[in-house]
Amino acid sequence: MTDVFDTQTHERAEAIIARYPQARSALLPMLHLVQSVQGFVSQAGIAFCAQKLDLSTAEVSAVATFYTMYKRKPCGEHLVSVCTNTLCAALGGDAIYTRLKEHLGSDTPDGKPLGHEETVGTPGESGSVTLEHAECLAACDLGPVLQVNYEYYDNLTEDKAVELVDALRAGDKPAPTRGAPLRDFKTAELELAGFFPEDEETYRSTVDAPTAAEETVRGARMAADNGWTAPAMPAKVAMPEVQKK
Ligand code: FES
Repeated sequence: MTDVFDTQTHERAEAIIARYPQARSALLPMLHLVQSVQGFVSQAGIAFCAQKLDLSTAEVSAVATFYTMYKRKPCGEHLVSVCTNTLCAALGGDAIYTRLKEHLGSDTPDGKPLGHEETVGTPGESGSVTLEHAECLAACDLGPVLQVNYEYYDNLTEDKAVELVDALRAGDKPAPTRGAPLRDFKTAELELAGFFPEDEETYRSTVDAPTAAEETVRGARMAADNGWTAPAMPAKVAMPEVQKK
């Protein structure tokens, strides 16, 4: 069978494995590496990880199907994750997701709303977009939010979300509200595997972080202004008894 992974990918896999005392600990970044090449975790990707890490394909599959960041179908150039968890949903996240499903779906051959993890356009090609709903993206104070390839777009409205996906469909990369500039899904996956551009200084200069959004620090500032503090931890805390098996 032809190896779908090139020499550079094999070298990167070895570099990942060398980071850990036990090879099997490298599985999560290895799966991101596979996605950086294929845009999803294919059967060949599962076999690649299993062979490199001396695991069974069943063990690799169990992990790849457990975590939502590992995709079982090829992703578009961009992965759009709309938070539909409680706070964002109440602030408009549900309406944004519904609007994007319909808006992007109208651009598909059957014109039907896109389903979870479905793609408009040809996966991997410029302007293709995969849509998913996501659980809390840890930015509740800036909701409703969505992420594109895990970069944040905060305080959205339905119209702003449509404008954003239209720009992605047109091949543009609108700047996220904070953090790193937008990259495509495969490049983001390579970074999640731990590989960044060699010119680290230039790369770091493009990252607009850490964020100190007013919404995030308002509570802490109010507490400081009013002299509010949390009760100190007791010096000694009794640990609960662990049940003997
Ligand atoms: S509920 Fe959307 S970021 Fe927390």
